[in-house]
Amino acid sequence: MTKKNTATSNQQQLMDKIVSLCKRRGFIFQSSEIYGGINACWDYGPLGVELKNNIKQAWWRAMVYERDDIEGLDAAVLMHPKVWEASGHVENFTDPLVDCKSCKLRFRADQIPEENLKLKKCPECGGELTEPRKFNLMFKTFMGPVEDEAHVVYLRPETAQGIYVNFENVYVSMRRKIPFGIAQIGKAFRNEITPGNFIFRTREFEQMEMQYFVRPGTDMEWFEKWREERFKWYLRIGIKPEKLRFHQHGPDELAHYASAAYDIQFEFPFGWQELEGIHNRTDYDLSRHQQYSGKDLSYFDDEIGQKYIPYIIETSAGCDRTLLAVLVNAYDEEDTGKEIRTVLRLHPFLAPIKAAVLPLVNRENMPQIAWEIYKSLKPHFKVFYDDSGSIGRRYRRQDEIGTPFCFTVDSQTLQDGTVTVRDRDTMKQERIHKSEVLDFLKEKITF
Ligand code: GAP
Repeated sequence: MTKKNTATSNQQQLMDKIVSLCKRRGFIFQSSEIYGGINACWDYGPLGVELKNNIKQAWWRAMVYERDDIEGLDAAVLMHPKVWEASGHVENFTDPLVDCKSCKLRFRADQIPEENLKLKKCPECGGELTEPRKFNLMFKTFMGPVEDEAHVVYLRPETAQGIYVNFENVYVSMRRKIPFGIAQIGKAFRNEITPGNFIFRTREFEQMEMQYFVRPGTDMEWFEKWREERFKWYLRIGIKPEKLRFHQHGPDELAHYASAAYDIQFEFPFGWQELEGIHNRTDYDLSRHQQYSGKDLSYFDDEIGQKYIPYIIETSAGCDRTLLAVLVNAYDEEDTGKEIRTVLRLHPFLAPIKAAVLPLVNRENMPQIAWEIYKSLKPHFKVFYDDSGSIGRRYRRQDEIGTPFCFTVDSQTLQDGTVTVRDRDTMKQERIHKSEVLDFLKEKITF
């Protein structure tokens, strides 16, 4: 095997290990698994939903709570169909698609070799390919009981439009002045032709988007500021800097609404791929909504005495992709000398379980003391009580799901009230008094 092939196979193995860990330990399950699953849809299990909520919380904190210039919003998934005409999605949100007449497989025309496209030859079976046709990625459904064109509605393919149509509602109700932003976390749906790589590209996913409204002429300055801010956020949640980079969009890559764009990319086992897009959307969105709705969406800037349509800088992150990046970034196999331990080195704030409380043995009052400690932590943090199996195995189980601390009640606890605190990353242990456990966690679990 060549060096390159070995590296690819190691990376494939890494993905397989992460997918397997996610299922085994209750992070992520195939949707509708008992029916054989449904393609490109995933369910977050008990630990997955905690991790996902923590990622969303870390984003909301950085974007809304820690700033003075951003408001939150939670708009409906279903919107007036004209929204998607105004946004350009009905016309432009398409991928070129070709079908094989023999094996019936479907391909994105821009993802198969040019030679095959030219010869109309299926890359799988050599059969004849159809002419490329535009395939709109929006999911369509009907509002109410009548299933005709007049009742078509779409599942939103991005959360951004819910923000644009509420621009005026938010700035008037919150007495905001430009520059300011609106942040939203929510589900989006795309009928992707080639989903895959686990939760990387799915048909139902969650976005964390922020739209920042600025005075025209200041847009590129804000674009640069947001590019930096968003890069820093990934470092803050513990992503290794060498795993992150920017990718600037060339003119042929720019979305129909953008005048400038950068992706923040992460090095996944299957290559460098987009985590988040930062776009200068100019006045495209508000102008289009003004045109299609007939409502004046201009803003009067009393600082300069001018009326204008604000420009928008967008930061658009995928929650599921971030979660996959967080898992890949955290996954480690360490040779302890006695065994290989699997450990998720998650940022403590993101870890699904913050601490495990363990009685060393199930006798001499140790379970009672451990249970009391567990109960005192429960109102503040997601914690876990475990008294089954050897202490070594219990530590390994917590390492594998990324629990940053284990508190163990042992025979010394019975004498002086101290417990051991085991650090997930170093495996080092120290002793603290049982009455200090809550403060210890409060100090360590910060963002
Ligand atoms: N509002 C702009 C927008 O939606 P995008 O680059 O199409 O821009 C933004 O999507 C982010 O949403 C991506 O960087 C990615 O993290 C996430 N995303 C997009 N499509 C996805 C899919 N099919 N599955 C999972 N995440 C997706």
